[in-house]
Amino acid sequence: MPAMGASLRAAALLAFVVLSVLVSLLIGSLQQFGARITRFSNATVAGDDEQFASLRRALIYQLNERRKEIIPLLLPPPGQTLPSPQHSQTRTFNLDSTLWDEIAGGLREARLDEMGCDSLLDVQTLQILGSGYTKLVVKVNLAGGQPAALKLVNEQGIDMEKCLEDFKDPQGCRELVAYKLKKEMVLLQRLQHPNVIKLKGHCVGGQGVWGARGGDGGRVTVILEQGSPLQMIQLLQSPWEDRFRVCLDLVRLLHFLSRSPLGSVALLDFQPRQFVTVSGELKLTDLDDASPQEPECRADADCTLQFPHRNFTLPCSAAGVCEGLNERRNIYNAYRYFFTYLLPHQAPPGLTHLVDHIMNSTGELSADINQTLEAFEDILHLYKSGLHLDSLPPSALRDYSVMRGMGTSGNVEYRCWPSYSQQGCVLSVHSAQEAASICSSHSHCTSFSLSGHKTWTGRLLASFRSSFSHMEPDATSEVYVRKSKAAQPPPV
Ligand SMILES: Nc1ncnc2c1ncn2[C@@H]1O[C@H](COP(=O)(O)OP(=O)(O)O)[C@@H](O)[C@H]1O
Ligand SMILES: [Mg+2]
Repeated sequence: MPAMGASLRAAALLAFVVLSVLVSLLIGSLQQFGARITRFSNATVAGDDEQFASLRRALIYQLNERRKEIIPLLLPPPGQTLPSPQHSQTRTFNLDSTLWDEIAGGLREARLDEMGCDSLLDVQTLQILGSGYTKLVVKVNLAGGQPAALKLVNEQGIDMEKCLEDFKDPQGCRELVAYKLKKEMVLLQRLQHPNVIKLKGHCVGGQGVWGARGGDGGRVTVILEQGSPLQMIQLLQSPWEDRFRVCLDLVRLLHFLSRSPLGSVALLDFQPRQFVTVSGELKLTDLDDASPQEPECRADADCTLQFPHRNFTLPCSAAGVCEGLNERRNIYNAYRYFFTYLLPHQAPPGLTHLVDHIMNSTGELSADINQTLEAFEDILHLYKSGLHLDSLPPSALRDYSVMRGMGTSGNVEYRCWPSYSQQGCVLSVHSAQEAASICSSHSHCTSFSLSGHKTWTGRLLASFRSSFSHMEPDATSEVYVRKSKAAQPPPV
């Protein structure tokens, strides 16, 4: 038995030793594994840090590039004093705040931009007016009911999306995109013109509309005059006079841009959606892609304008600049996006030769902006004065009896195109004589009225109809009844 007890003790001892060895091996390998994990995770953190730092550097580089784009726009025009050296130095060291002080200070001095963050305290948001790659535009009533449009960074826009993909930093990206909005503000301030949207004010950081708390952080709200986005489809269906107005406004704008306080400015993103109308007047609203620099060149080939169906080459000047390239680029874009669609269709017969001339000279870039503006102003003059109507027969009115100080009621209307009214036939005329010749050419027309209403050119609005039940006194109107048709019953 004692031998059995000894062997049992030996077995237990062996088991203990084996177990201890196993446990120590396990602990050892666990320690090694742990050490390996620590080494590995330290390496990952270092890699992430490196990657994060390089993204951050790239983003900061981009932010600086955007700032550099704005600075030349702040410099005074040639002939005015340059900032003091001390001032310029501050610029280098503290670009951001100096830049903003200048922008905001400049705007206030010019009494252009009077509204600040306070005006956004009690806004009533009505609807979204539009959005693009960069910005979101909201229709609002400011405190007191004043209508305005607010421009903000479009958080869902392509610019923001691309930036987040590249830099993965929502705050930094908002700031980067906001630079386009800031650039636009500076341009709106420097390029004031009746055909550029009016800047009413701005709010940076502070109490921005949607609850931003202090700091800039890309929270920029620009307060603008409210317009209606340009609806090309609607415009295509409107009277020639209104389409001509849009083209004339555009040419007046391009004329101004070609000699602006910043030099000759090209609109690099030239599309109808960059414009709005305010009471029928065309206004440029998207300026962040405006470039005040003519391209530099070594040879003529560097001064080539490329469009989908046409290329143009301009001479490279002795100073190594493509002089006039910005102006020509704008003219051709006006031709291909606006004139082609809006100008020739239904132009008054007495003006078609002048319209054709404009179509040729702008489509071939054979006229500069001065000549183009002159050609447009000529057309306006002829149209307003009625001189283009010299072929009207003087007898046109002979077939009509006139009742002054009278209006009609119980009208039976007919539709014509392009009418100023959806329900009936309302056209712009130079005189009663022109209205009479129009009525005589419409088989349904038995009478027309002229009221005090005028179009933007000062022409009269005439309402044509097939019949009416009776006349009543109206000091602002006169009725012309067609003698040969007066007795006929209205068509069914
Ligand atoms: N002042 C305004 N009034 C009415 N609509 C506007 C105004 N400004 C811009 N919009 C509309 O908002 C859209 C986006 O504005 P825009 O400045 O062109 O932004 P993005 O630079 O992103 O293209 C425009 O296409 C236009 O239809
Ligand atoms: Mg736009």
